[in-house]
Amino acid sequence: MTDSIRFLMCAPDHYDVDYVINPWMEGNVHKSSRDRAVEQWEKLYHVLKENAVVDLVPPEKGWPDMVFTANAGLLLGNTFVLSRFYHKERQGEEPYFKAWFESKGFTVHELPKDLPFEGAGDALLDREGRWLWAGYGFRSELDSHPLLAKWLNIEVLSLRLVDERFYHLDTCFCPLTGGYLLYYPAAFDSYSNRLIEMRVAPEKRIAIEEADAANFACNAVNIDKIVVMNKVSEALKTRITQAGFQVIETPMSEFLKAGGACKCLTLRVTEPVQEDRSANVMVESRTIRMEGHLLDAGLISRALDLIIENGGSFQVLNFNLGEQRQSTSSADVKVSAPSHDVMEEIMGMLIDLGAVPPPQEICDAILEPVVQDGVGPDDFYVSTIYPTEVRVNGQWVKAQNQRMDGAVAITETADGPVAKCKLLRDLKVGEKVVVDVVGIRTIRKTESREQRNSQEFSFMSGSVSSERRVELVVEQVAWELRQIRDRGGKVVVTAGPVVIHTGGGEHLAHLIREGYVQALLGGNAIAVHDMEQSNMGTSLGVDMKRGIAVRGGHRHHLKIINAVRRYGSIAKAVEAGLVTNGVMYECVKHNIPFSLAGSIRDDGPLPDTQMDLVKAQEEYTELLRGADMVLMLSSMLHSIGVGNMTPAGVKMVCVDINPAVVTKLSDRGSIESIGVVTDVGLFLSLLVNQLDKLTSRHHVAQS
Ligand code: ARG
Repeated sequence: MTDSIRFLMCAPDHYDVDYVINPWMEGNVHKSSRDRAVEQWEKLYHVLKENAVVDLVPPEKGWPDMVFTANAGLLLGNTFVLSRFYHKERQGEEPYFKAWFESKGFTVHELPKDLPFEGAGDALLDREGRWLWAGYGFRSELDSHPLLAKWLNIEVLSLRLVDERFYHLDTCFCPLTGGYLLYYPAAFDSYSNRLIEMRVAPEKRIAIEEADAANFACNAVNIDKIVVMNKVSEALKTRITQAGFQVIETPMSEFLKAGGACKCLTLRVTEPVQEDRSANVMVESRTIRMEGHLLDAGLISRALDLIIENGGSFQVLNFNLGEQRQSTSSADVKVSAPSHDVMEEIMGMLIDLGAVPPPQEICDAILEPVVQDGVGPDDFYVSTIYPTEVRVNGQWVKAQNQRMDGAVAITETADGPVAKCKLLRDLKVGEKVVVDVVGIRTIRKTESREQRNSQEFSFMSGSVSSERRVELVVEQVAWELRQIRDRGGKVVVTAGPVVIHTGGGEHLAHLIREGYVQALLGGNAIAVHDMEQSNMGTSLGVDMKRGIAVRGGHRHHLKIINAVRRYGSIAKAVEAGLVTNGVMYECVKHNIPFSLAGSIRDDGPLPDTQMDLVKAQEEYTELLRGADMVLMLSSMLHSIGVGNMTPAGVKMVCVDINPAVVTKLSDRGSIESIGVVTDVGLFLSLLVNQLDKLTSRHHVAQS
């Protein structure tokens, strides 16, 4: 049986490390010994000859890597797909390999120019012939995989390589007889690992450690029950032996300097065709169009990066660069992904960046009915903070109540379809929900550089300010607050208890009194501490004037809770004169609506605290509707909640002493958020000061 197996090799007459096209070659240029290379090659040649037939292709001068015949191409039965080398250093090998396979009567397929694929180095047949494992990420392009499936009529499973040391699939992956697989999992992304685990049963997987991987243990030649490999660890040898194989070690040090070993030096030329196979390929591709300040705003590089980072690959089909600074650019990008799931994930992110299908590919969104109240279809499109439109009956319909992490529900009305962002729990039978990622677009502002710079107080690209910049930010925020108040706009404040502890209470009260705040969101604690301070001069028992704990002070906050409970609500406590100043007092006096969301650690709670969290979320959403600005003051919990409900376009100012909180909140990828790392009491006092200055100047100018 073994004599029917044939391999192709190429003698190392011209072998050397002449250039660097992979990490192993670095530092090894002209460092390999010719004699030792010849000796090692011959050893391998003889081992193989004892178990199979070895054909030879004549070596060509000037093409030192031609010894690595695995990269000649990929064959199955009588069909041969010629490699298209990624690096020009190896492209000259192509005609020699082509001639050899033609002379042996193979049908030779050639890939389009600019579509790299490096043969059996990057594509390995399952040894039972059931499918083809194909690698991409470094040398071969994902888009070559559908062609392999077509020409070889076989199912292709695409695996993404992520460690540049393992740049070819055969450096970290070796299917063995009987469905076994020798491989190095860390060389692949998580999606590929999942795919491998789905196809290869746990008892058949021989996952190896980095040390063996770095000795090219996976670069092994398998002939039935024999595995020929470079020297590896005893432990690994034992495992392979226990799986029923005989391990033959043969030294490969000289070829390792070029990034190759046993398997690379061979190409199996007998690969019998299995009958019941199909040209199934999971690779999907779609074209998207991006328009705007693609370069200035860094949009195009973000888009291309996210495609790669998420396991896809791309081809830029057209790129029309805007000529003037203010003119926009457009690009058509073909996106390929190893499966539908990955494609959907990538498309979702591209849509967030404003990508749309090219005009000829625009189609209606796919809708699925809600069949159970409060539950969406599996594949529902997850909404973002950006204004979103969905295409229904050939018309783009803008979604209402834009927010992130919702579903887009469509209802038919007499005036046509209506689209709304809804939380899953609010979905109702009878509605339809947008699934998949077609027929959806988000509207991103295309501000040119000039526009951005001309807005004196623009909230520039989500930056976190250091202490030195605090005053500058305060000036911006004060200006915005003034503008919003003067035009009858809406500012919503979310505040944590730290506002009171840091002495910011009186300043926040001042803002409310002066009409700068239209709604207040917080928890039980801020209201308790605020009223404790107003009533007893302490915050959690600490004297706010002297900064020291008051005897018996630890009971103060429970006392105030108890007292307010007696009156039945904060408003009644204010009316009765229990609370005579402070944040809650001003809210009541000026009819500023507030919502206090409860939590597991609340004392009391106050009668006003909403302990039903679904209701609390609804109250928050209601109070946030139509906001122009949200001031987030030292409350990670409530601020994150608010961030989730707020669409892009609403200015968000996040103040916290903890930079991590600020970064988390201001990093929404929208340009309107700004973070300030500072003491919130200090911030509020500066802000009030600045507003007073602005106001008095105003009066002077008028008089
Ligand atoms: N120096 C060669 C290259 O970088 C090594 C090829 C190794 N071949 C392989 N099938 N892994 O292309």
